Amino acid sequence: MTSDSMNEMVIFIQSPPGLSEVVLNEWTDKAALLQISYQVLKFEQSGIEIQTDQASLAMILPYLKTPNRVLIRLEHFKARDFPKLFSKTKKMNWLKWMADVPEKIRVTSSQSRLIHSDRIEETVRDAIAQYFRAQPPKKVLQQKWSEAPSELFVRLLDDEVLFSIDAAGERLGVRGYRNHVGPASMRENLAAACLSAFLQNETLKGPFTLADPMMGAGTILLEASEWNRPNLGRLYYFIHWNSISATSVDLATNELMLIGSDLNPKMIETTKLNIANLKTQKREWKIILEDFLKSNTQLPDVQWVLSNAPYGERLEVQEGFFKNMIPALKRKYPNARIALLMPSDKWNLTKSKNQKIVDFKNSGLEVSLREIMT
Ligand SMILES: C[S@@+](CC[C@H](N)C(=O)[O-])C[C@H]1O[C@@H](n2cnc3c(N)ncnc32)[C@H](O)[C@@H]1O
Repeated sequence: MTSDSMNEMVIFIQSPPGLSEVVLNEWTDKAALLQISYQVLKFEQSGIEIQTDQASLAMILPYLKTPNRVLIRLEHFKARDFPKLFSKTKKMNWLKWMADVPEKIRVTSSQSRLIHSDRIEETVRDAIAQYFRAQPPKKVLQQKWSEAPSELFVRLLDDEVLFSIDAAGERLGVRGYRNHVGPASMRENLAAACLSAFLQNETLKGPFTLADPMMGAGTILLEASEWNRPNLGRLYYFIHWNSISATSVDLATNELMLIGSDLNPKMIETTKLNIANLKTQKREWKIILEDFLKSNTQLPDVQWVLSNAPYGERLEVQEGFFKNMIPALKRKYPNARIALLMPSDKWNLTKSKNQKIVDFKNSGLEVSLREIMT
């Protein structure tokens, strides 16, 4: 076995529902730019199984913006009863991955004899605890684990138990820069996926001018700013645990003009606080307090408009909002390609000609990202 093949691992890039193609596109593009080696093993609606090596995973992880999680497959075995689950779990090489029983263990089970998830979790906890009692980890490992612990995933399907650990430690969408949110802010990785699906990865390398006229906490614009940069504003379990230095090169350094507006003064302050957390050069920001429905200023230089409209549920909207929105956007941004994210059932209220980019679920709600056609 070569040292490379010793470090081979299988990972599962977990995608938000409906967005696995977007997630694979991001992986493919960034893997090529970082020159990492990998092989796609399986493409599913819930994500992509990939074979790669430890160094490649550590390199690409902070660059990935669209997945929910990246799971490292640890081991799998058959278990039809609890004593077997316990003894097999206890025999695994836990010290390679952790120094204590993980605080969060997530269990799913279907079509298996062991179905009671609480009891499965308890058995796994007891087995790992007994393993560590028999071989207590060194202080330095305990310290590392406590600084960047991870979540353990146990999946039972057809009596096959599969253990995985979250390579990032927690949701990949946790960036470390968007510390302030609005009442209807979207998850960072969904904003990144909308950008990637609409602008396409080549365009995202810049330069370009992008506006979000209903920016809320600025999530879409922040994601556009950081698309080509590793997110080093947080720790990643796998990188920290293996004492690897994260790569910090920008994959593209082109200039961007990012224009955000909102009618809520609180959102203006919120976005400004989030922008202040970024260290990125070559970004020009314009943050404007404005109701775009009543605006008389045109922005002919804006090339792209991407916005997450209020759904009229968590945030109320003005009378006739959905009908007036699109003519107002077209007036304000006469030369831009415009796309909006809205619940699928609200699109008919806009009476617009539009083209689907991608449909997916946002907090359980069916939403549709569409481009406005002229
Ligand atoms: C769904 S939220 C946007 C969330 C944002 N993508 C984020 O992640 O924080 C919609 C935003 O549109 C703003 N809004 C609603 N009507 C508007 C209008 N006519 N002009 C400008 N902003 C408006 C609301 O104040 C709200 O912040």
